[in-house]
Amino acid sequence: MQSNVALKLDPAARLHVGIIMDGNGRWATRRGLSRLRGHEAGVEAIRRVVEAAPDQGVGTLTLYAFSSDNWRRPKAEVTALMGLLRFYLANEVAALVRNGVRLTVIGRRDRLPDGIASAITRAEAATSSGTTLHLRIAIDYSARDAILNAAARAGAVGQLSRESFADLITGEAGLRDVDLIIRTSGEKRLSDFLLWEGAYAELHFTDRMWPEFDGDALADALAAFHRRERRFGGLTAIAPAEVPNL
Ligand code: FPP
Repeated sequence: MQSNVALKLDPAARLHVGIIMDGNGRWATRRGLSRLRGHEAGVEAIRRVVEAAPDQGVGTLTLYAFSSDNWRRPKAEVTALMGLLRFYLANEVAALVRNGVRLTVIGRRDRLPDGIASAITRAEAATSSGTTLHLRIAIDYSARDAILNAAARAGAVGQLSRESFADLITGEAGLRDVDLIIRTSGEKRLSDFLLWEGAYAELHFTDRMWPEFDGDALADALAAFHRRERRFGGLTAIAPAEVPNL
C-alpha cells in the first residue's frame, strides 16, 4: 500500500481523466449571449475542475480545448479562442504554481498565432515542478495526427513496444493511459481525442453543457466510473492503482 505522500508525488498512481469540453456555444446562444461569452464561461469551468480534481483522486487531467479540425470554424471565433488561450496562459500560471499544478500542452504549435507557442513554453517551465495535478491542455490537437507522427519517428527507435510507441505519441515517458473520458453537452463521440491512450477508457456522457460543469459534476462522473468493473479483456476486476499500461 502506497502512502498518501507517495500518491501525491506520483500522478501516474492516480486516475487520468480526459474531458471533451463541449457545449459552450449552445449554452451561450440559449441565453442570448455571444458564443465568445460561452467560451469565457468555459474557462471558468476549467478553473473549477482543475481545483476539484486532485481531491477526487485525479492525477492527470487532459482537456480538449481546440482540435485540429476547429480551424474550420469562422475566423472570428478562432481568433476569440486563441485570445482566450493567450489570456489563460498569461493570467493563470501563478495560480497553477500556487496549487502545485504542472501544465503541459499537447498538439501542434507551429500553426498557433504569434507569441502563443512561446507563452506555452514559459508556462510549462514555470509549472514544471507541480505534483498535485498534471494538467494537459490539447490545442491544435488530433489523436490520429499524433499517432501518425509517432509512426513516422518510430523507425529511429530500435525495438518498439506498446509502451515505447505510446511514449512517442504522448511525448513523455510512462504517461498513464486514460481511465475515463467525459464528454459534456449530450454528444456521444470521441472526435479524434486520445484514441491510443484511451483504448480502455471508460466513457461518460452527460447532457450538462461545459460552462455548467463543476467539481460536483466531476464527482458524479467519477462515482459512475468507480461502479464500473474494469477487466481489460480478462475476467477479474482490476483496481485503479493496479491498472497496467496495456
Ligand atoms: C466546444 O464547444 C468547445 C470548444 C471548441 C472550445 C473549448 C474552449 C474552452 C473551454 C475555453 C478556452 C480554453 C482555454 C484553455 C483557454 P462548442 O463551441 O463546440 O459548443 P457548441 O457545440 O454548443 O457550439
